Amino acid sequence: MKIETLISADEIQGRIAELGKEIERDYGTKGEIVVVGVLKGAFMFMSDLVRHLNMPLRCDFLRVSSYDHDKNTGQVRMEFDLTQPIVGSDVLLVEDIVDSGNTLRYLLEHLHAKKPKSLKVASLLYKDTGKARKLVDYVCFNVPNKYVIGYGLDSEGLYRSLPFVGVFSK
Ligand code: IMP
Ligand code: MG
Repeated sequence: MKIETLISADEIQGRIAELGKEIERDYGTKGEIVVVGVLKGAFMFMSDLVRHLNMPLRCDFLRVSSYDHDKNTGQVRMEFDLTQPIVGSDVLLVEDIVDSGNTLRYLLEHLHAKKPKSLKVASLLYKDTGKARKLVDYVCFNVPNKYVIGYGLDSEGLYRSLPFVGVFSK
């Protein structure tokens, strides 16, 4: 199957630099924040984003799974959780893509229970289905309702290493 570029590597890098500035403006550069990446999909976005954030920060990760063979089962499972407490911390949750918002709703509830001082969400992509936009504070790109791959996003485990976001084409 062929892959068509939807968002180029240059566009991604340019937008992440902008987003970094926006996040810095909102948080300031003095206070410490905790950046929480949702594995596996957010690993590439998070690693580029944190390099644009000039404030003291800690990185942590959690892993959930919600997709069964690329179909949304609606079921979210926590596979592993944060390694450090976030009570009283400013937390920025970093996602690869928000589609139905099921995963995000689950994660927000899970993280709010840990009593952070604040909790915001940055997602590389937002699938334009209009259901969960209110839950996301920072979005790099809106994408159409198609299955996207690359830049961390997979199809059955493959394509995460592509430096761009693409879609399958015939
Ligand atoms: P949601 O729970 O429907 O919002 O889906 C969120 C999760 O499903 C994301 O964190 C991704 O891991 C995965 N996902 C949703 N859409 C896509 C896609 O187009 N490509 C790859 N993964 C996707
Ligand atoms: Mg994900």
